[in-house]
Amino acid sequence: MYSKVYLYYFSGTGNAKNVTDWISINIKNANIPVEVINIEKCRKPEIEQNDSKKLIGIISATHGFNVPPLVLYFIFKFPRVKNADFFMANTRGGLKLYKFFLPGLSGLTQILPVLVFWLKGFNVIGLQPVDLPSNWISLHPGLRKKVVDSIYNRMQIKIKHFSQKMINGKRSYIALYSLPFDVAVIPISFGYFFLGRFMLAKTFLATSKCTSCNLCVKQCPVQALKVIDERPYWTYNCESCMRCMNNCPSRAIETPHGFLTLVWIVLFNLPSILLFWIFEKYGRSLLSITWYEEIAYYSFQIALNFFFAWATYLLLYKLMRFKFVDVLVRYSSFTKYKFWRRYKAPKNI
Ligand SMILES: Cc1cc2nc3c(=O)[nH]c(=O)nc-3n(C[C@H](O)[C@H](O)[C@H](O)COP(=O)(O)O)c2cc1C
Repeated sequence: MYSKVYLYYFSGTGNAKNVTDWISINIKNANIPVEVINIEKCRKPEIEQNDSKKLIGIISATHGFNVPPLVLYFIFKFPRVKNADFFMANTRGGLKLYKFFLPGLSGLTQILPVLVFWLKGFNVIGLQPVDLPSNWISLHPGLRKKVVDSIYNRMQIKIKHFSQKMINGKRSYIALYSLPFDVAVIPISFGYFFLGRFMLAKTFLATSKCTSCNLCVKQCPVQALKVIDERPYWTYNCESCMRCMNNCPSRAIETPHGFLTLVWIVLFNLPSILLFWIFEKYGRSLLSITWYEEIAYYSFQIALNFFFAWATYLLLYKLMRFKFVDVLVRYSSFTKYKFWRRYKAPKNI
């Protein structure tokens, strides 16, 4: 029924790419022309404007209960298209405990794009969350291969059914089942979008194991890495997609957990201590704080946090050239140890 299908995807570590491949194979098998477009390599969506019916799909990873900013900005650029259906599939961080598959959580990941496409006149026919292995290895070790394969096998079947429905123009809104939970975490999505992601950008370090191959710099989807003193440096542009850390051939990229714990303890306490001190000095009680003083306090805290995260990261980055700092950082990072696996999405499936 469709004259053409356009699949736009963004994938940090390969899960969303695999889902895109599964869907495109099914579409090709149905003899429908399909165009697969990698969002990180495409500036602006270009879709043939004619009267024939088209299907547009967005397949993206979930970051902080939202679509990654790169995808969001891309979606805003979509033109109005005549006679077009739309579906969204977001890969989330799934886990498996014993025999039980645990789903991730989408938050705004489906809601925002659907709203934008619907407002642009698209007919929304599919909303599908895809629970594939979590790649967030700053937070937890990469899953074992056996678990990864088992999660993958289960999802591949589900996606086959979903794409079959899409090809036939049928509706499928599986994502709506978790809507109450998704709505509940919306404040966290906003927190992540406006603050959290910038903090996370400053949590990657290349240690002395770095061979300056610059693979991380070349592969970064948003060109967020600079090379300073022959080592990668993460700027605030970083989307924490985890590609650099998972693909580093020398396992030289770490999340410095020990250092971060120390910095974040200071970070979250410093503004309160300062405020307390200022109030004491002027003989005021913290209980008598007015609403505008409260706003000023939180703005001050956010500004201070940003400055502190940037300054301590830069300082540590510079100090890493001293061997004992490098060793200290490495040994206080969980990611250094063998049990903290990297995540590799299965290929060619
Ligand atoms: C920074 C970051 C934030 C994430 N946030 C979420 C989230 O909010 N909800 C979720 O279910 N999974 C989350 N994940 C897990 C990924 O969405 C999941 O592993 C996805 O399958 C990765 O797809 P990709 O391999 O195509 O990048 C997050 C991962 C990272 C690295």
